[in-house]
Amino acid sequence: MRARLSTVTGAAQEVAGITRTHGLLHIFLSRGTARRLFWLLLFVAALIGCTVHLAKLVQKFTEHSVESQLKLRSERAQFPDVTICNFKPASASLKRSKLYHDYLNESWGNFDNWFQEDTKKRPHESAESYENRLEKVCKKLLDVMWVSGDTRDISHLDETMLLSCRYNSEPCSHKNFSLVQTSRFWSCYTFHPDPGQSSSGSGGRGAELNMVLFTDGYTGASVHYSEFLHSDSVGVCNKRLILGQAATNTLLGGSDPQSTGLRVFIHAASSYPMSQTEFVDVASASSTSIKLRPIHNRLKSTPSRRCSEPPIETINYVRHFSNASLNVVTKAYSKSVSDFVVEAQQSILHSNCGCYSHLLPFSVNTSDLCYFAPPQEWITPSDAVLKRIDCHDHWFQHAKRKSEELTKEFQHRMWCQFTQQRPWQQSRGWPPFSAVQEIWENLMVPQVRHGVEFLPEDGKEHHIFRNMNQSRQFYQFNVFLTQDDNCLSFFCRNSSIKYYECNSSLMLQHLENASYCIYQKSLARSLASVSISLQSPAADVYEEKAGYHWTETLSEVGGTLGLWLGISVVSTFELLEFFYILAKRCRGGTTGSESEGSRD
Ligand SMILES: *[C@@H]1O[C@H](CO)[C@@H](O)[C@H](O)[C@H]1NC(C)=O
Ligand SMILES: *[C@@H]1O[C@H](CO)[C@@H](O)[C@H](O)[C@H]1NC(C)=O
Ligand SMILES: *[C@@H]1O[C@H](CO)[C@@H](O)[C@H](O)[C@H]1NC(C)=O
Ligand SMILES: *[C@@H]1O[C@H](CO)[C@@H](O)[C@H](O)[C@H]1NC(C)=O
Ligand SMILES: *[C@@H]1O[C@H](CO)[C@@H](O)[C@H](O)[C@H]1NC(C)=O
Ligand SMILES: *[C@@H]1O[C@H](CO)[C@@H](O)[C@H](O)[C@H]1NC(C)=O
Ligand SMILES: *[C@@H]1O[C@H](CO)[C@@H](O)[C@H](O)[C@H]1NC(C)=O
Ligand SMILES: *[C@@H]1O[C@H](CO)[C@@H](O)[C@H](O)[C@H]1NC(C)=O
Repeated sequence: MRARLSTVTGAAQEVAGITRTHGLLHIFLSRGTARRLFWLLLFVAALIGCTVHLAKLVQKFTEHSVESQLKLRSERAQFPDVTICNFKPASASLKRSKLYHDYLNESWGNFDNWFQEDTKKRPHESAESYENRLEKVCKKLLDVMWVSGDTRDISHLDETMLLSCRYNSEPCSHKNFSLVQTSRFWSCYTFHPDPGQSSSGSGGRGAELNMVLFTDGYTGASVHYSEFLHSDSVGVCNKRLILGQAATNTLLGGSDPQSTGLRVFIHAASSYPMSQTEFVDVASASSTSIKLRPIHNRLKSTPSRRCSEPPIETINYVRHFSNASLNVVTKAYSKSVSDFVVEAQQSILHSNCGCYSHLLPFSVNTSDLCYFAPPQEWITPSDAVLKRIDCHDHWFQHAKRKSEELTKEFQHRMWCQFTQQRPWQQSRGWPPFSAVQEIWENLMVPQVRHGVEFLPEDGKEHHIFRNMNQSRQFYQFNVFLTQDDNCLSFFCRNSSIKYYECNSSLMLQHLENASYCIYQKSLARSLASVSISLQSPAADVYEEKAGYHWTETLSEVGGTLGLWLGISVVSTFELLEFFYILAKRCRGGTTGSESEGSRD
């Protein structure tokens, strides 16, 4: 025992530094049991103190490890994608067309065989509650038509919507927009800026997109065919689909506060436009300036608020489709929380009904949607189709009720890195009286003159207006020439009680000169000027960082160890050296140690 202690002492003396600094060795080196005990107790106390201190550090590290920083205008801003949707899904001017009514009659039998039980007035039902109930039933028919047929002809078209477009003073056109179809808005169009020129505009300002848009909100006099609408042969729902006050649009958009105008979604190119919540509503007859103040968020995933780092999972959604599911175009989007929720809701529907909902974004071709009716069943639906629709309505309500719960469940799929655009809007009445004639002559007349949509030369397939004699542009804009009674009787003659027949060549002849026929108010109700710009070419940055950098962590740990135990990097090595020498001596035979021991 004594010999061993002297070995330790010898080793310790060789590593002279330690003997000076290290309390641990006092335990061995001190003569007298009392002093040794004192050092032992002191060492144990220091060890406990150090452990508690380190535990506190770890706790602090895990609890408050995130430090956030907001840096103003510190990074290059990127002009986002902008998706424009009309609150009224159907074109108000085209819905008046006889060809559309013929399509409803010939292809759908005016919906007379659909939901026959539900469209009858029940005994003792008040007129008001019958009308409310009917509204829901007729909306289902619109949905069936949207899913099964091809409503692109009757909905808004980028070419006629866009009267003028400039991006950073460069002209842009419908070619810079792409179609995305949704059951609420029917046809929306996404502007995707050329990435090369997307940040700054002229003179060092932020990039800017300026548009004059035709919102097609004309709901004017329906007297021209009111007789036809009040005849009994039209069908209860059919009447509501085409009736005067743009009824299709009322059925689909009834509950929205802003019902004439546009919704502008502002989103990243990689996300589905309607998955994001940033949008601005723009009213017709106004000029709206939308300023974007982008902020790049870079969050840190913590146990209390987890988020997903890139790469982010993707999901394919149908962007647009043509009739009877023949040409479905999908696109991959980065999956956000709401996409996980949609996916879970769609799977609730699929596991219960064997089909998917059209009311949510979907990834399948339209024939897999519950509301799909094959063309041969459009006039008379089969029981199978009606059963799927009932099943959908039941389970969709169920899925909708679960959305809050699902959002919580998928909260951790929130992205760590995302950009908020923080739009800010300002509107004023527009256009002024003096500008109406100019808009008509410079923006609308050229469209009519050069319009080819619906004519054989546009090379597209049209399912509703395939037999048009005039361009879509002509049909959408000529309604403004016949509001004035004098103009009406000049251009059109009473062909029957149903329709006026207007002389298109006569209208074309007088197009430029007929601006006196136009009512400023009703044209203004169909126009909107929208300007979307980055407030500055630079974006703000909100960044979360680990509150502790490794250097800080190291010095805190080092400080703690130094304070309580006197351990530093150098003394650790000295300690190692001490153990090395100790081991060598113990192994190096008893002779050496004995001789030293005798000296002791
Ligand atoms: C619009 O599309 C054309 C090509 O069709 C392209 O040359 C132009 O740069 C695009 N404009 C913008 C603003 O992206
Ligand atoms: C619907 O079409 C049929 C013939 O296809 C015709 O007899 C009937 O009058 C049309 N009904 C309406 C309301 O146009
Ligand atoms: C619908 O999609 C499936 C694959 O998801 C495909 O096999 C089928 O041919 C598609 N149907 C039509 C009509 O395109
Ligand atoms: C849908 O497309 C098919 C094939 O192109 C065509 O035969 C059919 O008539 C179209 N349906 C309608 C309603 O136009
Ligand atoms: C188109 O014009 C032809 C004759 O030029 C006429 O027979 C036909 O009825 C017209 N169609 C429509 C939809 O006006
Ligand atoms: C057109 O016909 C309706 C109904 O027959 C009639 O009331 C109206 O006065 C006629 N309008 C013109 C301009 O002839
Ligand atoms: C339409 O107007 C033109 C030019 O005034 C005239 O030549 C033509 O006969 C008119 N057509 C009809 C059907 O009234
Ligand atoms: C329209 O007005 C211009 C000038 O005022 C005239 O030259 C032109 O012939 C007119 N066009 C028609 C179709 O009346």
